Amino acid sequence: MELMDKAIEAKKNSYSPYSNFKVGAALLTKDNKIYTGCNIESVSYTPTCCAERTAFFKAISEGKKEFKAIAISGDTPFCYPCGVCRQVMSEFCDDDFKIYVGNNKEYKEYTLKELLPYSFDMEK
Ligand code: THU
Repeated sequence: MELMDKAIEAKKNSYSPYSNFKVGAALLTKDNKIYTGCNIESVSYTPTCCAERTAFFKAISEGKKEFKAIAISGDTPFCYPCGVCRQVMSEFCDDDFKIYVGNNKEYKEYTLKELLPYSFDMEK
C-alpha cells in the first residue's frame, strides 16, 4: 500500500535517541497530497512530537485542512496512535477518516470514530 510505504520511508528520519522507538506516518489529504512525518524527541521529553502530529502540522501549516487517511508504522508490528494524536485528528477529520496501522507485510484499517469514540465536543 503506497501510503504505508511512505510511512515506513518517513520512519527513517525519526529522531528518537531517548526511547529508541522509531515511528513514521503518511497523511493523505482530500486533494490527494501526501504529507509525511516522523517522531521527534527532546531531552526534556515533553516537547516530543509524535510522527502523526508532525505530519498533520506540516500539512496544516501549508494550508491543508481536509484529510482522508493516515498510515502509521512504528517499531512494533501495529503501532496505534496515542490519545493526543487521536484528539488532533478529531480536530480536523471526519468520523470516517481512515487510520491504517501496520508494516510492510500487513496492516489493519480503522476509522477515527472507532479509535476515538465519544470524543470531546463543545457543542454536544
Ligand atoms: N510515538 C509516535 O510517534 N506515535 C505513536 O503513535 C506512538 C508514540 C512516539 C513518541 C515517542 O517519540 C516514541 O514514540 C515513544 O513513545
